Amino acid sequence: MQEIEQILFSWREIAAKAAELGAAITADYEGKSPLLVGVLTGCVFFMSDLSRTIALPLEMAFMQVSSYGDAAETSGAVRILTDLPCDIAGRDVIVVEDIVDSGLTLAYLLEQLQSRKPASLKVCALLDKPSRRKIDIDIDYLGFTAPDAFLVGYGLDYAGRWRNLPYIGELKKEVYSSGCK
Ligand code: IMP
Ligand code: MG
Repeated sequence: MQEIEQILFSWREIAAKAAELGAAITADYEGKSPLLVGVLTGCVFFMSDLSRTIALPLEMAFMQVSSYGDAAETSGAVRILTDLPCDIAGRDVIVVEDIVDSGLTLAYLLEQLQSRKPASLKVCALLDKPSRRKIDIDIDYLGFTAPDAFLVGYGLDYAGRWRNLPYIGELKKEVYSSGCK
């Protein structure tokens, strides 16, 4: 695709990584029924691949938060657009995120979820951009460390597009710096 600078992770690499993370979660939560909380919309492919590699009686729920609008940089202001349909008090919650960039979205979300008194609260993120972090975040289960570039595909979008690419690629700078959608 002409807007993609390079492919960083193929679907095979991602599937293998999801299986690795799923095995680790299966081992760590033996005898428990964790609740996977996916952060929409970027988490959808990862949530679906990851959850199918976890051999536990888990449950799934989703939240939608907004911080970016159509921009490539976080505005810093986070809002819950769609909240969980269930109570998480006493549950073993694992937040499933596509990518942690500044960390502001996840920091806000974790604070919100922690106040609802789950038994435990952990984070599983497919991608991490540590060079861009503005706030300290512990990622308990991490797929890949990514370079400081804007990534799309496998759920990740820019202004709503490119989520359906079957790989994770780097978006060409001219696409997001020109404001072209
Ligand atoms: P943060 O609050 O800066 O950590 O941003 C987290 C959210 O911004 C992620 O859940 C993504 O939805 C989005 N995001 C951050 N970096 C990228 C990227 O490179 N491509 C697509 N979305 C991104
Ligand atoms: Mg996200």
